[in-house]
Amino acid sequence: MQVIIKRNFITMRIKELLASRDFNSEVEVKGWIRTKRGNKNIAFVALNDGSIIHNIQVVIDMSRFDEELIRKLTTGSCIAVRGKLVESPGKEQQVEVHADSVLLYGTADPESYPLQKKGHTLEFLREIAHLRPRTNTFGAVLRIRHAMAFAIHEYFNDHGFYYLHTPIITGSDAEGAGEMFRVTVLDAKNPPLKEDGHVDFSEDFFGRETNLTVSGQLEGELGALALSCIYTFGPTFRAENSNTPRHLAEFWMIEPEMAFYEIEDNMNLAEDFLKYLIRYALDNCKEDLEFLMNMYDKELVSRLNFVVSNNFERITYTRAIEILEQSDATFEFPVSWGIDIQTEHERYLVEKHFKKPVIVTDYPMAIKAFYMKQNDDGKTVRGMDVLFPKIGEIIGGSQREEDLEKLSRRMKELKIPEKDLWWYLDTRKFGSAPHSGFGLGFERLLLFITGMSNIRDVIPFPRFPKNADF
Ligand code: 4AD
Ligand code: MG
Repeated sequence: MQVIIKRNFITMRIKELLASRDFNSEVEVKGWIRTKRGNKNIAFVALNDGSIIHNIQVVIDMSRFDEELIRKLTTGSCIAVRGKLVESPGKEQQVEVHADSVLLYGTADPESYPLQKKGHTLEFLREIAHLRPRTNTFGAVLRIRHAMAFAIHEYFNDHGFYYLHTPIITGSDAEGAGEMFRVTVLDAKNPPLKEDGHVDFSEDFFGRETNLTVSGQLEGELGALALSCIYTFGPTFRAENSNTPRHLAEFWMIEPEMAFYEIEDNMNLAEDFLKYLIRYALDNCKEDLEFLMNMYDKELVSRLNFVVSNNFERITYTRAIEILEQSDATFEFPVSWGIDIQTEHERYLVEKHFKKPVIVTDYPMAIKAFYMKQNDDGKTVRGMDVLFPKIGEIIGGSQREEDLEKLSRRMKELKIPEKDLWWYLDTRKFGSAPHSGFGLGFERLLLFITGMSNIRDVIPFPRFPKNADF
């Protein structure tokens, strides 16, 4: 990771510098000033470049520098420092840099720089999403986000899955929930109309109605029924007006899809995959996790350890409803067989009843998507949701209906036109096979791993109702 820029100087990332014991070597370091303190003889600058949660201390002997330059080294300004790496006498850090030269790349006016002071609320930082990556909290979250994305690809690559890129612009509503963002080039003020007064999308860019995808699953199934095991990992969009700490209008989803997997295989994969990712974070993001634990959530690391070392509970929807009905808790949404299990119910099952992650299977057909495999009872489908502490649903998935006749019948009942999904139905006509898959909400995973409590704080630029600035 070392980049040689000039003969004798090697620019080092602060992460490497802090680990170095190459004392008296000449180094160059670049970053943004977090704080400056000192007196008229000496200045101590805490510098951060985002490579690690910690800062490096730069020591400036004032007698060797222009006073005017040092005065401009304020919080938020960006500098390059050349100097000597020295063993630090302070107990805060083991190494520091004694500056021989300082180049000021960009000043930051203390009067107007929003991060001049520490201790801003997360709500305030959301309003300055363009600058919040420079805080310790968002540095930690963004590094963990990167590590998780990397671990996801590593896991699937190691398990023989192929990364399939499914389209962002689609003509189909995979989840059938109708919560889609339209994609159009038609003039909003004066669109072409059909005789019946409806907008004539045949004149639109694609010659039909199109939307941003809510899931890559349907196309993922096409891939699985050729490559056996695939996964998608891309942005998905939902125009649901959910102003909750667990919903985004634009979020990232990981969707593995496996030929020849039944629901049990699907559950085993989901559990193994989640545990792998959590273990990866514990092993590779230790310092960032410790920072977040100390700042926001004292239980964080013990909760992560608990989840990797215990089996998930597996119950049917029918059993879950029985447990909820028999509980003493009062719920906002009343419980009876057939209801959609709400977050409050999910959290009761996970946090109060089982005290561990729970996989709920075999949901009523009426509340699940058309593609789920129908059970012989005629009432339930082979869906599965993985429920996590603090989060509720983190994964939604199912075995898929591979029988053409059953699938067509269900689509008719739900008034999903076959002509829109003829290509999907073709897989059931030609070489159909049992198969399964699931979707993991990337930001829900990050909520769990970072211990943050609002999903808007685990994505760099959150999209939610009435918010698409930055
Ligand atoms: O349960 P969902 O809707 O399932 C699907 O989309 C399936 N097609 C997945 C599949 O079987 N391939 O969404 C899957 C997951 C949820 O469990 C949740 O973690 C996340 O996506 N999710 C959201 N995350 C953030 N904001 C939203 N608005 C979300 N909606 C779903
Ligand atoms: Mg779901």
